[in-house]
Amino acid sequence: MTFKRYTVTAALPYANGPVHIGHLAGCYLPADIYVRYLRSKGEDVKFICGSDEHGVPITIKAKKEGITPQQVVDKYHKIMGDAFRDFGVSFDIYSRTSSQTHHETASGFFKTLYDKGVFKEEVTEQYFDEKANQFLADRYIVGTCPKCGNENAYGDQCENCGTSLNTTDLINPRSTLSGEKPVLKETRNWFLPLDKMQPQIEAYIDSHKEWKSNVFGQCKSWLNAGLQPRAMTRDLDWGVKVPIEGAEGKVLYVWFDAPIGYISATKELFRNKDLGIGIDANRGTELGTRTGILDDSEWEKYWKDKDTKLVHFIGKDNIVFHCIIFPAMLMAEGSYILPDNVPANEFLNLEGNKISTSRNWAVWLHEYLLEFKDKQDVLRYTLCANAPETKDNDFTWKDFQAKNNNELVAILGNFINRTMVLTHKYYEGKVPVAAEYTKSDILLLEEISKYPAKIAASIEQYRFREALGELMNLARLGNKYLAENEPWTLIKTDEKRVQTIMNLSLQISANLSVLMEPFLPFTAKKLGAMMNLNTDLKWNDATRTDLLLAGHQVNPSSLLFDKVEDDVIVAQVQKLENSKKENEAANVAAVEPAKPETSFDDFSKMDIRIGTIVEAERVPKTDKLLKLLIDTGIDKRTVVSGIAGSYKPEEIIGQQVSILVNLAPRKIKGIESQGMILMAENNKGELSFVAPTKADMNNGGAVK
Ligand code: MF3
Ligand code: ZN
Repeated sequence: MTFKRYTVTAALPYANGPVHIGHLAGCYLPADIYVRYLRSKGEDVKFICGSDEHGVPITIKAKKEGITPQQVVDKYHKIMGDAFRDFGVSFDIYSRTSSQTHHETASGFFKTLYDKGVFKEEVTEQYFDEKANQFLADRYIVGTCPKCGNENAYGDQCENCGTSLNTTDLINPRSTLSGEKPVLKETRNWFLPLDKMQPQIEAYIDSHKEWKSNVFGQCKSWLNAGLQPRAMTRDLDWGVKVPIEGAEGKVLYVWFDAPIGYISATKELFRNKDLGIGIDANRGTELGTRTGILDDSEWEKYWKDKDTKLVHFIGKDNIVFHCIIFPAMLMAEGSYILPDNVPANEFLNLEGNKISTSRNWAVWLHEYLLEFKDKQDVLRYTLCANAPETKDNDFTWKDFQAKNNNELVAILGNFINRTMVLTHKYYEGKVPVAAEYTKSDILLLEEISKYPAKIAASIEQYRFREALGELMNLARLGNKYLAENEPWTLIKTDEKRVQTIMNLSLQISANLSVLMEPFLPFTAKKLGAMMNLNTDLKWNDATRTDLLLAGHQVNPSSLLFDKVEDDVIVAQVQKLENSKKENEAANVAAVEPAKPETSFDDFSKMDIRIGTIVEAERVPKTDKLLKLLIDTGIDKRTVVSGIAGSYKPEEIIGQQVSILVNLAPRKIKGIESQGMILMAENNKGELSFVAPTKADMNNGGAVK
């Protein structure tokens, strides 16, 4: 099906910290490449984003820093908007969910569903922190994930296995406010009946088998597990107020309001247009609350016309919200189109470790720019070439240097530079006449004209690494052409031939400048200016091989890229090492506080024995779990243990362990676990068995 227009969104980032390379690689860069490509194709496209300013992470940050949530979001909204703009992320609008338009839109959306009788109103028991005198929603609560055993799963989601959770699903819940075990208390909330909607949602997902396999697979696994009703309201005071009677002191669930932020931002885009406030497509705009006359028919086209293609770029932790919950909300409302695709990326790691804001294990965009001024495209290039499209991927500074020196400088920059320098040397910068094409020239011309379609095909399937690879192949083709034809030698014997060679090389350069724009917008601009190109050139113009007329004057040339030296890279790695050291130092002090006093009687109720692991295997489809068979001296029994991050199954056969044998059996991933292995944990979360230090301790021996 062909579409008349596109609405492309990138996940609204939480306004609780600056932007790092993981954000950029995960969704903003691929979205920007896609949108720039569509614009170059002449498509009607709106690129929508903004700050997600509600939700518990913001309030937690505010509490930590001793400021108000509003102060937190004001600060980061500006920092994030600036970083996106500086890296050329070309939103048509960068709005925010604290805007008045958004509050009205989200609240109106809820009211519509409420009036239609969509919600199931229910009084349920929710966790309450008696010390903090507050209900504990979402990230105010952590505990063990019932699905994978991760002990630090959040109340709304386990970041280890991606499962979306309700706070009451957690095993051993703890309040993040006080560390205390919360109590259950009754409260009224409004639930989206995802269980009842399952058939509709399932049909929708099944109609999108073309989605990336990681996305489709995750959706199917939730559907197979059976969808549960989900509360769309929360007992919190920071957020969009629930617009119905009897809901005082409650706000909309952040995952209800945030995706509606895409809609509100689109409205604002047109509202500002009506007011004549121009929005530069290359800049994230700072929008406060502005009002204007809104002609609904304009923004509605981008959300309600069947011939609009709606695409959400996100990271993998957002899949359930964009593929199931938001579509369910849109279905229930009834007048909206549904997402046509949700190309989610996996995660980007940094130098072999998970990027972590709290541990300062990150490359922050604003810091990058201080050290690599005007090198935005080098980062864009590296992140795209390494994009975590199908699996988690690693960013290393060594690789950054290699990509810059061996690819951008040696392939792309080198081809353009040789072409420009020779053009100035032989022809005073005037494009020479292509006199006569040889057979191989004609083959080359054919080859060149295929590139726009080749690259486009990859982009349209959201395969941006592959697309970038093809772009570089075009530059390689140019280099090969120069190397085979050696114009610098021929100039002495066959001036006429050299004219054709240089004309053709210049045409390739012009095509490259058009085709690189989505990936390397800053470089494209520089090259365009250097070649004195018409700025209106579009994607399909690059199928032509006569963009430059003979006699066209090009401007003086300069290098597009320069080498990144070793010492620069060493300094970056050192900077990361330093933050690691600082963290380790800080962590030495960060030992968990002592638990309340207990009695010897209580302790001796626990029957802990020495046992030996006799069999060990991974639990399929989990990252952390091993299924163990333990000889306890009393019997041989199965225990499921979350230690796969620290031990390989084959290396622990014969290992002695301490095991709690009278713990009530529990099903984990369908396996009955009969007991628990005692583990020691260090600051880095690494686990170690607690085992006897003497060799002759028999199985079944008591630990007391
Ligand atoms: N703020 C969320 C995150 O950073 C993403 C919200 S996307 C939206 O994970 F759809 F809700 F806007
Ligand atoms: Zn989990």
